[in-house]
This record gives sequence, C-alpha cells and structure tokens, in this order.
Amino acid sequence: MERPGDDGPQLPGPSLWPVGFAVGIVCLLVGLIVSWPVAAIGAVIAAVFGFLWAREVTTGRQPAVAPDEAAAPETDGAPSMPADQGEDAMTSPEPGERFPRNKFLEGATLGLGALIGAIVTLPAVAAALVPGFVKQKPPGVDLGPVDNFEEGKYYVATFERNFKEGYISRMSAFIRNNGSEDGKPSFTCISNRCVHLGCPVQSGGPVFDGQKKTVKTPHGPIDLIPALPAAGFICPCHGGSYDQEGNRIAGPPVRALNRFEFSIVDGRLVLGGMFAVSKVDGSGASAKIHKYELAGPGQHVDGPEAWFYPLQPPH
Ligand code: FES
Repeated sequence: MERPGDDGPQLPGPSLWPVGFAVGIVCLLVGLIVSWPVAAIGAVIAAVFGFLWAREVTTGRQPAVAPDEAAAPETDGAPSMPADQGEDAMTSPEPGERFPRNKFLEGATLGLGALIGAIVTLPAVAAALVPGFVKQKPPGVDLGPVDNFEEGKYYVATFERNFKEGYISRMSAFIRNNGSEDGKPSFTCISNRCVHLGCPVQSGGPVFDGQKKTVKTPHGPIDLIPALPAAGFICPCHGGSYDQEGNRIAGPPVRALNRFEFSIVDGRLVLGGMFAVSKVDGSGASAKIHKYELAGPGQHVDGPEAWFYPLQPPH
C-alpha cells in the first residue's frame, strides 16, 4: 500500500512464478528418467511459469531507494551529496539512454555469469546425457548362406554378437526360414534371452546336436544346430514359457521374446539389431509382429504398465 507522498517505485511483491518454474524443472528431470509424457508435462509447466516469471521481471517495477532514505538529513555537520544526485546517476537513464546504468550492470553481470556457467556445464551435461538418446547400432552378424536354413525348420544359431568384443558377446538365436511372402524372403529370428530376467531360454523339444554345422563367416565361426521346439521355448529359471512364435504363454515374463532384424546380403542371412515384441499374431511369413524399440527384461512395452517403466539405456 502506498503511503501519502510516497510516489516512488516500490519493491515487487513475492511471486509464485519461480516456484512453478522450479516444479516444472523437477518434473522434467524426473520425466527424463521415468517416462516421456511426464517429461513433456514438466517442460510445459517450466515454459509457462518461466515465461510468466520473465514477463514479471522485465515489466515489473524495480527496487529503489526508499523515500525516507532519500530524504535523510546530513549527519555530523558534514555536507553530503544530495540523495538524488548519486542515486539518480545509477537509477535514471541519461538523456539519450534507454536504460539506467545500474540496470545495464545488473544485466551484464547476470548475462556473463550465465554464459560462463553454460560454457562450463553444457558440454559435461551433453556428454553424460546424449549417448542415452542416440541409437547405437550394433554391427550386423553374418550367419552364412541362406541355403543352410532348411525351410520350416528351426536352428539354434550361436555366434559372437560383436566380433570386436569377442567371446563375451557370444549369444544364441532361434532361426527359422519361413520361405517367402510376396517374393520377399522371410525368416523368424528370435532371441534366446528370456524377457523376464534374461536367462537363456531353451527349445521345448529335441535339439539335434549330432547335426551341428559350423559355418565360417567373416565374423568368425557360427554354430547351427537343428531343433524341434514342438512345445515352444522354455526358460529354466522361473518357468517362463513361450510358443513357437515367441509369444509368452505362461510364467513371469511380461511380453513375447525379442527378435532380430535381418537382411539377405549376397545370398547370406545377416542379423541386424534386436527389437522388443509385445505379441505376434499368426505365424511364419504371414505373422503380424507387434514391434517396439528394444526394452529391458521385465519391461512392458505396451499398455498402461509401459508408462511406469523408466527409459532404458541403449543396448
Ligand atoms: S528369467 Fe526366464 S522366467 Fe525368469
């Protein structure tokens, strides 16, 4: 409330905009870990409150010397500079200037501080966060000539996923040649990693070790063993069970088995990246695969449960 005769500028009252801005930033950071919708809501809150805060700061009245101080009497008999001379030089714009000097100094100090802060922190923040959002494509794995895969039969293929990493990247996949659909070759390439906790699933039927074939490829030897997973695929760890297309049929897994992309290059089958699958309708070449970005074991990829799982690191 203005007092009589108090016609000078006043200190701005307390504002809720910074609080809303801080809540938005917290929501944004939590959302980056928890889920994209939460991050988007946080970004919107931060943007709206940040805008309101900035508008208030730039259009609101500025702090100024209280009138009582400006009118303070001389002390100890010593002549003092009239209050409106020293302060006015800082708070009032000179003729021809748009802003008073104190405002310029305040802005320059804040701007310089922000610039230095950004130069120091942004590279470190980018180095920490960006790799998590960049797709890191693994090298393809050559499984040898397509003719090695008899149509309609499953094979357990064992290979090194990344030949630079060697034996530690060794893994298996169940590969079935489905013939062709609309003139395009079709293969079912299922990962053997259980999507409950990652144990290796096994063929629910005989595996013909005696017919094992080792194929030489530029990435090293690939073992191919025919299998007959009549009962689908079974995980020995906690009893997870999948049908022949990798659909979950029993146990704790929350979705179908992951699959590999594939391509045919010069008559050879090449495995690409892995992707997650919620379920598969149909079978073989005509199967409809509900495909999602690769997710971790135990992670839902569809439905409301998927909203509550954190973002996964790149695989
Ligand atoms: S790891 Fe396969 S059922 Fe638990």
